[in-house]
Amino acid sequence: MSVVEVIQSIDQNYVRSRIPRVAIVGTGLVGSTTAYALLLSKTPAEIVLINRDKRRADGHVQDLRDAEVFSHTTRVVAGHFDDCCSADVIIITVGVSQSGQRSRLESLNETAAILKNLVLKVARCNPHGILLIASNPVDVLTYAAWKWSGLPPNRVIGSGTSLDTSRFRRRLAEHYGVASDNVHAYVIGEHGESQVPVTSSARIAGMSLENFCRELGLPHDEDMLRKIANDTRATGLEIIRAKGATYYGIGTALARITGAILRDEHAVLTVSSLVPESMGLGEVSLSLPTIITRDGVARVVSIPLDVSERHALEASAETLKQYIAALKT
Ligand code: 2OP
Repeated sequence: MSVVEVIQSIDQNYVRSRIPRVAIVGTGLVGSTTAYALLLSKTPAEIVLINRDKRRADGHVQDLRDAEVFSHTTRVVAGHFDDCCSADVIIITVGVSQSGQRSRLESLNETAAILKNLVLKVARCNPHGILLIASNPVDVLTYAAWKWSGLPPNRVIGSGTSLDTSRFRRRLAEHYGVASDNVHAYVIGEHGESQVPVTSSARIAGMSLENFCRELGLPHDEDMLRKIANDTRATGLEIIRAKGATYYGIGTALARITGAILRDEHAVLTVSSLVPESMGLGEVSLSLPTIITRDGVARVVSIPLDVSERHALEASAETLKQYIAALKT
């Protein structure tokens, strides 16, 4: 071994022993934007980009490394599928792109076949990694990935409604004239048509939306809340119609979830995971406020819902169970 090789191998071992590894499988718009968002968030991690077309992954790595000097806590490299075996978090973005003509659920079996292969390989070689699924329909595929993998449910997470919650909070924040950080509101259920924006337990400055309006002398406008919920639901398809795909929002949401895992944050995020039996929704994966730690899901939180929200959540679970039943793989 030459001196340079010895130094390189020491460097590699040093890096591996102290920097967590994040493997991103699929380097389309979602995968590469997730890497970029992780880089900008200065998450101390080595990001491995994995794509069947290695040249494409290499291209992204060169481009991202041009930004590395401004964010040197994150390293980006191109890798092979085997790198998933040593990753702390494996983000699966394969098959995530969606044409405006097809619903998230329509492309289900096509994407499921690709994912099954990947998930089985990762589960075999890396039972301690955390799988983070972004491929749509994300709730059905998160459930399927859990089933195929045999991993404990806390280690199989879907991006779920993390993005819808962000879309909802932004709109509520705009409407009420406050910073989105100060809006505590969640979209739960399916990442899709049957999602449930929860307004009954939404809070601003510790107050319900109704009380907040009273405090500010504003009218409490239920129609406006319905419009905000509908606009939130429609955002994904609207963006796809306008520019072909969504990736900044989901890429940043994936980086946020990954950061919460790696930093053991105990952050409350609406991610998709197997719903605890005690919630009475049956065997299904969907999003609820979830405490995220280094072990993935530490706890799914049972959020207070009014009667219509509970019915909507049950309907969302039923929709997803029908799609799970239609899974062919
Ligand atoms: C989104 O909602 C298409 O699932 C993607 O942005």
